[in-house]
Amino acid sequence: MNIQAPRGTKDILPSESWKWQLVEDAVRTVARKFGYDEIRTPIFEQAKLFKRSIGEATDVVSKEMYLFSDKGGEEFALRPELTAAVVRAAVEHSLISGQAPCARLYYNSSPNFRYEKPQLGRQRQFHQFGTELLGPAGPEADAETIAFAIGIFNELGLSAFNVRLNSLASREARAIWREKLVAYLREHLSALSEESQKRTESNPIRVLDSKDPRDKAIVTNAPLLAEYLSQEDREHFEQVQSLLNASGIRFTIDPYLVRGLDYYSRTVFEVTSEALGAQDSLCGGGRYDYLIEQLGGPATPAVGFAAGVERVLIALEKIHGDWDNSAALDAFVIAATPDARPVAFRLANALRAQQQSATIDLQQRSFKAQMREANRLKANAVYILGEDELRAGEVTVKEMATGEQRRMPLEGFWR
Ligand code: HAM
Repeated sequence: MNIQAPRGTKDILPSESWKWQLVEDAVRTVARKFGYDEIRTPIFEQAKLFKRSIGEATDVVSKEMYLFSDKGGEEFALRPELTAAVVRAAVEHSLISGQAPCARLYYNSSPNFRYEKPQLGRQRQFHQFGTELLGPAGPEADAETIAFAIGIFNELGLSAFNVRLNSLASREARAIWREKLVAYLREHLSALSEESQKRTESNPIRVLDSKDPRDKAIVTNAPLLAEYLSQEDREHFEQVQSLLNASGIRFTIDPYLVRGLDYYSRTVFEVTSEALGAQDSLCGGGRYDYLIEQLGGPATPAVGFAAGVERVLIALEKIHGDWDNSAALDAFVIAATPDARPVAFRLANALRAQQQSATIDLQQRSFKAQMREANRLKANAVYILGEDELRAGEVTVKEMATGEQRRMPLEGFWR
């Protein structure tokens, strides 16, 4: 029987999981600093949740969703992202109300599923951390979201990244621009790639971020959304920029940044890293002022972002090179004779009660083999219990770094 993990998924083995914990700890630390609370939602949801929010014409919904019907015949989807799920939960549990007009939520290492072509930094099961800030309409919320993302990258020591920013305008301004864009694309239809020809009708905004050189040539002269922003849109976007500038967060404006999900309005942003190669987006996000209402909640503005944990780790590994787990074991307790085994068991427990990490040999191996194991586990000290020690009611403690040895009475550990 040769069963393997599904294509596009990865086992996170002990040699890797400590790195995941590092990222998760950084997210928790930054969330505490910003005053965000964690939310966890189910891995599957009713499929219509994502169809309605992300948009039927997007790649995520039309090509990449894992859909299934349960035994009751209802259609579900493994979640492809968390924003829609968090909004669903916030509406269902009335997290936004007159008394609590703002909810600062974050998620950490949450699995998502998209049926994509796997490559470095692109998987079918991938994990995200991110925030959803529900309630505030002002530019401070957009800037806070970006500062949160940057705060995590800084906390992790990631520095080589670029922040790109754009405004997708409010609903009315975007509708006017969309018509102009479609008219322009129709004029140049035959010069566009096949994919963009289809998108001209189904999802014209996505033509703007096509990587195909034929599309790029046409897009250069397309009507720019920036020119159609309303006065309020423009002021909002300028204020976001000045808040970022004042906090020393560097960014560039990218008028072609449109994002792949339909729910955005006004500010959108992406953070990219050159360390990543083709899939260079570390995180992405933006404002989605209409989504909560669209999903049956009260009209509530919101903004958020999500970052891919796998991609953050690829970027970190690039920086750290041969990155090793330095978290060593405090103590390895060696029973040098069979009589010492129960004492070793008790001593390891006593050390743990003193907040030390301690292990013992569980395979009744020789003294030499136990020493080898202590070395392999990078124990800071070995605690040796031989005949001599047992007779004296003591233990020999050897510091592995210096080779220094001392005897200690066992009595002291039993208290
Ligand atoms: P997204 O751009 O689809 O946005 O994904 C955000 C991040 O998740 C990407 O920048 C990337 O790091 C990671 N990611 C996406 N797909 C994959 C994949 N197949 N393999 C590995 N990593 C991947 C969203 O998901 C929005 N919900 C973000 C958001 C939150 N907007 C507002 N609030």
